[in-house]
Amino acid sequence: MATDTIDRAAGGSQPIPRHIAIIMDGNGRWAQQKGMPRTAGHAVGAETFRRIATYCKDLGMDHLTVYAFSTENWKRSRDEVGAIMGLLKKYLLESIEKMERDRIRLKILGDTSALSPELQELIRKTEIIAERLPGCFQANVCLNYGGRDEIVRAAERFRREHPGEPITEEGIASCLDTADIPDPDLIIRTGGEYRISNFLLWQCAYAELLFTDVLWPDFSEKDIDDAIDAFRHRDRRYGGVKV
Ligand code: FPP
Repeated sequence: MATDTIDRAAGGSQPIPRHIAIIMDGNGRWAQQKGMPRTAGHAVGAETFRRIATYCKDLGMDHLTVYAFSTENWKRSRDEVGAIMGLLKKYLLESIEKMERDRIRLKILGDTSALSPELQELIRKTEIIAERLPGCFQANVCLNYGGRDEIVRAAERFRREHPGEPITEEGIASCLDTADIPDPDLIIRTGGEYRISNFLLWQCAYAELLFTDVLWPDFSEKDIDDAIDAFRHRDRRYGGVKV
């Protein structure tokens, strides 16, 4: 991790987070406040994601994970679901073209079997390209993702692949969508709500949590700097005591 490149987040005794995860909330309200349809908020939110991912990469982080579409988001209107899927398709197409140039690995987390065949095919293509980019900064996009759903799928997979073996934490973790991804050090939720909403339920066990009122489309590089600064002042004990 290139900590030297990120010491601009001043102070604190913690190293900077290797993995930040974000609940990108507030797109709809941002648009409505401006008299625009909710879908316009998602379009600006997708741009914010691109900007923040590039910034996290430039800071030398290893992973950024974002919650783009939950297993519950299908309850939204057809128009809104269609608009979000359209933005994701656009991002997948762009990634196929630019991942190698930008040295950004894209990984989709979640139950992709419910997505359109077109999106599934694009995801397969990004997976093939990602294999050629070991060790690069990784953007993880949660799509048709729910923390409980992921744990159930992991348990089913463990039973299938390890019949008769005792269930262990390591065994379950190895069957999660995040099997090769370290747990997030810091989870940020924008948009002023104070809940986890079924995001990374297994992986959040020892994550530091940070909530901000900033609506996702307004979230900036300075907000990342502030979040890192706050993180570096946290006292992470993982259930132990300070010696
Ligand atoms: C939450 O805000 C946001 C979502 C459910 C969708 C997020 C999707 C994107 C940013 C676009 C696609 C992403 C990528 C990675 C290209 P909300 O709609 O719940 O906002 P509200 O609380 O103000 O209603």
